[in-house]
Amino acid sequence: MPLMTCRDVSLAYEGRTVAANINFTINTGDYLCIVGENGSGKSTLIKGMLGLKQPSSGRIVFGDGLLQTQIGYLPQQTPAQRDFPATVWEVVLSGCLNRCGLRPFYNKKEKSVAKRNMQRMGIEDLTSRCYRELSGGQKQRVLLARALCATKKMLLLDEPATGLDPLVTAELYDLVQTINREDQIAIVMVSHDIQSAVSHASHILHLNHTPLFFGTTEDYLHSEPGKLFLGGTHAS
Ligand SMILES: Nc1ncnc2c1ncn2[C@@H]1O[C@H](COP(=O)(O)OP(=O)(O)O)[C@@H](O)[C@H]1O
Ligand SMILES: [Mg+2]
Repeated sequence: MPLMTCRDVSLAYEGRTVAANINFTINTGDYLCIVGENGSGKSTLIKGMLGLKQPSSGRIVFGDGLLQTQIGYLPQQTPAQRDFPATVWEVVLSGCLNRCGLRPFYNKKEKSVAKRNMQRMGIEDLTSRCYRELSGGQKQRVLLARALCATKKMLLLDEPATGLDPLVTAELYDLVQTINREDQIAIVMVSHDIQSAVSHASHILHLNHTPLFFGTTEDYLHSEPGKLFLGGTHAS
């Protein structure tokens, strides 16, 4: 069932279009990787999907009971975010902000959602630690737990493996795959790591300001952009 459909979406900054004519659908349980060069419009598209940026044309339509405010989001990391001065508990709990509405505190239900997601990500023992003192891999688990507090249906992850070593990256991808398979949460991941993208994702969107490809991973492997991007290195 379609959770989200982008219909002819274009996005612009001050009249300069950076992503145009984007069409794709995400169904319940899909795992979509968005790939493309730096500056090709990936993060801008993610912001459009979240409603943080209005499309300059086209529409984003939601289905299967998903609201735009019920999408979990792990932003592309900037140094300022890495140094966020808060405890792990505060960071995870802030994922419940959209559930609070206008109420200025977290209730029991939200605290138990936060606790459960910390257990899911194996970070209960970090609860009172300061976020900025954690390792890169620990930080990403904390941000995943935070993103999970916001959703039952869809997670958007913008380059979550940046700065992680290969082992920690593999652990992160395993965790994301488990969330996708066991909890049937649709994953949308922006990634530079095309080899991992094709081994985990069910669908690929290859963006270069406009889509070069959208479809199943299997079809991508046989497509011209897929062959070009993978440089014949993927054994299929
Ligand atoms: N806040 C902004 N204001 C103006 N231009 C922006 C802004 N954010 C991104 N851009 C520009 O939009 C284009 C796409 O950026 P982005 O979506 O971040 O690409 P990607 O995530 O694929 O690297 C780039 O040319 C970038 O410089
Ligand atoms: Mg980006």
